Amino acid sequence: MEKFESFLYSLLGVFALIVLVHAQDQTGFISIDCGAETSTYTGETGFTYVWDANFIDTGINKNVTVGYQSESQRQNLWTLRSFPEGIRNCYNVKVKSGTRYLIRASFLYGNYDFQTKVPEFDLLLGANMWDSVKLGNESTIIT
Ligand SMILES: *[C@@H]1O[C@H](CO)[C@@H](O)[C@H](O)[C@H]1NC(C)=O
Ligand SMILES: *[C@@H]1O[C@H](CO)[C@@H](O)[C@H](O)[C@H]1NC(C)=O
Repeated sequence: MEKFESFLYSLLGVFALIVLVHAQDQTGFISIDCGAETSTYTGETGFTYVWDANFIDTGINKNVTVGYQSESQRQNLWTLRSFPEGIRNCYNVKVKSGTRYLIRASFLYGNYDFQTKVPEFDLLLGANMWDSVKLGNESTIIT
């Protein structure tokens, strides 16, 4: 079997997730904008983002509130995918066996649900615990 499927799980509410998978060659880059409105765009960093709809089929799209959009200055954090249902929600990114990957994810709460309640959740890669995400406040960006 040449290709394996890799699952990025999140427990509780993931709200703004950008995954950057980096293989050895340039064509191995993929930058996913969670909850994006358009299928592709080039961000302020020069990265071309694709929407996440092809990588996941659960969750609902939300926007961070307007004040946090201007504050963060990063368009890829203005939209997000929220998971009000299910203990685990998975992004499915295809990877090649025997290849090393860099995976980077960024999170901003931005009071997208108007609850002013900063959530906490776990990140898993496949079945393995990766990290717990604890954002300090509504404008904290964790990468
Ligand atoms: C997010 O904001 C955009 C632009 O204002 C709007 O078109 C879109 O409907 C909003 N999405 C949600 C999920 O509220
Ligand atoms: C949010 O937390 C950051 C540190 O993560 C701090 O620098 C900032 O002042 C805090 N903002 C508010 C509004 O509390």
